[in-house]
Formats: sequence, C-alpha cells, structure tokens
Amino acid sequence: MESLPLRHFKEINNWDTVIFIYNAALKEIGTKIDILNDEFQHRHKYNPIEHVKSRLKQPESIVKKLKKHGYESTIENMVKYINDIAGIRITCSFTSDIYRIAEMIANQDDLTVLSIKDYIKYPKESGYQSYHMIVTVPIFLSDSVIDTKVEIQIRTIAQDFWATLEHKIYYKFEGNAPAYISRELRECARMVSHLDERMLRLNEAISESKERGDAS
Ligand code: GTP
Ligand code: MG
Repeated sequence: MESLPLRHFKEINNWDTVIFIYNAALKEIGTKIDILNDEFQHRHKYNPIEHVKSRLKQPESIVKKLKKHGYESTIENMVKYINDIAGIRITCSFTSDIYRIAEMIANQDDLTVLSIKDYIKYPKESGYQSYHMIVTVPIFLSDSVIDTKVEIQIRTIAQDFWATLEHKIYYKFEGNAPAYISRELRECARMVSHLDERMLRLNEAISESKERGDAS
C-alpha cells in the first residue's frame, strides 16, 4: 500500500477543519483510554479509571493564550504553539493508577509523547498536583495523515477535587487571591496528598490481606 503523505497541518487553513481534526484526536485518544480501562478490568478485575472528560479549547481562550505569548492569531501559530486545544482529563482512584495509566498510554505504538510534566512529584507553587502528557495521535484522513496534539491530564479524585475548587476560587479573585487564601490552598493540597497516601496504603493492605485469604 502506498503510504499517505503529509504528517502536519501545513495545508490546513480554515478554522472548521482544525476543529474537526482536534475533535477526531479527542475521539481517538478517548477510545484508547476506554480500551485500556476495559482491558484492565478484564485482566485484573479492577477499574483504575473513575471518569474521563474531554474538551476542545474555546476560540476566545486560544486567541487569549496566543496574545499572552506574543503571537498573532493565525491557524499556523495556534497549531504550532497551543498544546492544549484538545484536552483529556483522566481521574483515577489511586496515585499508583496514574503512573500505570501514563505508562500504558506511552506504550501505545502509534502515539508519540512530546512532553511530560509530573506535578505530583513536583507540585506547582499553587499546590496543584497532576500528571500531564502532551502526545500526538495520527489522524487518518482519506488522502493524508495528520499528527495531532492532545494534552492528557491524569489525577486522583482528591487531586481533581482540589484543582476544581482552587480554579473556582482563583477565578473569583481574578488571579489575585489574598496571601492567606493561597496559603490555605497550599495547606489543603498537602492534606490532599496525605489523604491519597493513606488511601493507597489502605488499598495495598486490603489487597495483601485478600491474597492471604484473610476472612476478616
Ligand atoms: P496553561 O497556559 O495554563 O495551559 O499552562 P502551561 O501551558 O504552562 O501548562 P501547565 O502544565 O502548567 O498547565 C496546564 C493546565 O493544567 C492548565 O490549563 C490547568 O488545566 C492545569 N493547571 C495548571 N496549574 C494549575 C493550578 O495551579 N490550578 C489548577 N486548578 N489547575 C492548574
Ligand atoms: Mg491549559
């Protein structure tokens, strides 16, 4: 079979086509995650993923981000510089699941991992914790293949709880929260990671006791 040419966005010059391709990328990655979760359930009788949410970045947010970085609002710049036009968030049960899922994603032959940010090992100044990957997935069109970027955020339920509420608070203060609020949020983030550690240990203890066949 003759291989399909073009692995980039060079010839795409209208907004609708860009959106169509990023949407296809979300579908591809979404299906991959579904299959990995089903396989996990099938092999280990255990479901590491609580839920998955995907979204396309709003046009206004894309324009705002380009402007912030000093780029003109063109389709070329948007495809080149904005890594989170297509975004998927995977919420897991335990921190160990995060690394397991990240590894399974990285091992998919047709995906290319462009970058990883481990905000669990190295939390952000705000206290934010999550595991971020930027990957490309090939989108097969009738006459070409287009490698398309997707941002994948992987976090526990507790980390998601913190990030969702912190995001709301941050917006209330338009980014200028008083010092004591930022301090409190960092403290809450520490509580979240403590909670995750305890839940993980508890889960490990339960698994071990099950393996030993303890009745109580
Ligand atoms: P953005 O310009 O925000 O996309 O940041 P970036 O390109 O430097 O990437 P980064 O990995 O820092 O953040 C990407 C995404 O992670 C953001 O769009 C948010 O969804 C999430 N995020 C990062 N930092 C925080 C934080 O302090 N609080 C919350 N709630 N979310 C965050
Ligand atoms: Mg972003």
